[in-house]
Amino acid sequence: MNIGFVMYEWESISPSLDSTLRLIQESVSRGHKVSLIYPNEMAIRRTSVWANCRVVSSSSPNTEDNSDFYKSCSLEEEFIPMIDQDVVFFRDNPPLDTHVLNFMDTLENDIFFINSISGLRKANNKIYPATLAALHDNDDPDKRLIPLTTVSRNKKYLKQVIEAYDLNKFILKPMDGFGGSGVILMDKSSKTSKFNVNSLLEFYINQGGKNNYIILQEYIETELKGDIRVLMLNGKPIGSMRRVPAKDDHRSNVHAGGHCVEHDLDEKELMVCKLIGPQLVKDGLYLVGLDLMGGKLIEVNVCSPGGFVEINQNKEYKIQKSVLDFVEEKVK
Ligand SMILES: Nc1ncnc2c1ncn2[C@@H]1O[C@H](COP(=O)(O)OP(=O)(O)O)[C@@H](O)[C@H]1O
Ligand SMILES: [Mg+2]
Repeated sequence: MNIGFVMYEWESISPSLDSTLRLIQESVSRGHKVSLIYPNEMAIRRTSVWANCRVVSSSSPNTEDNSDFYKSCSLEEEFIPMIDQDVVFFRDNPPLDTHVLNFMDTLENDIFFINSISGLRKANNKIYPATLAALHDNDDPDKRLIPLTTVSRNKKYLKQVIEAYDLNKFILKPMDGFGGSGVILMDKSSKTSKFNVNSLLEFYINQGGKNNYIILQEYIETELKGDIRVLMLNGKPIGSMRRVPAKDDHRSNVHAGGHCVEHDLDEKELMVCKLIGPQLVKDGLYLVGLDLMGGKLIEVNVCSPGGFVEINQNKEYKIQKSVLDFVEEKVK
């Protein structure tokens, strides 16, 4: 098969940690032709999309050492029509480049995209979990799939919501952030926190000279520290881990200093996966990373979900093998 990876620069890969590199090695070792496709090297000729690709070849595709694999690769430039790809992995970092999605729109029926272009468009924001949870809305607060959440860019309304909120701690975050950036824990019982609300809301709403949405969310306090990352393949969980925040931070993201430990999903977490799995598949979101806290869905990561290396650790089972088995079957 021809497999394309729309992704970040090869040179920026950290071989010991990178999930995309695991997918690339698995594809190369199975004999597929692998092309790296950089978003800024796509072009349209008449009505067809082309890409100036880097075709990967390796002198040791089966090595167990991922750094050795990385070093053994050579990249050759080749101008290839996108239609020649059988499968395209979308592995670019957020935020999504919407022009790239426009390039891909014409190809959605001819190439197997993982994830689908329409799905990426729909789910590439922090509102998507609410649309999933709405499918299973429940009167019992313990059974609700997402934390109490408000999305707005109206400062007055957001302040009213904060005032009316009956618990002290809450989370404030930007709609398009990632890697934990801008996720703030506030505490109404603290005067400093309270006095900062106006300034923070103004800052977030007006950032970049735009009129941005803000998310206000119930703060989920958990017994075990950290959030749970679940990798979902074709609507089912295939691996999970817990991300423990650094001692001086409330956020669990690895980018924010968090570290990963083993985790087996409990009943509540498995139930969330079971309830939302079918809708993920319906939306063409075949490979996603869920962030869960206290059995509630915090975020659905669709762009380039990572964590393969941490989840694979100490296991026979390899995430990248399951993903490749799945795409080979799908294309067949
Ligand atoms: N409602 C919440 N309650 C408790 N912690 C949260 C909440 N929302 C976010 N966090 C913490 O902040 C981290 C980053 O938030 P998230 O919504 O996943 O944004 P990002 O896209 O930046 O990863 C989470 O992994 C979690 O540790
Ligand atoms: Mg997250």
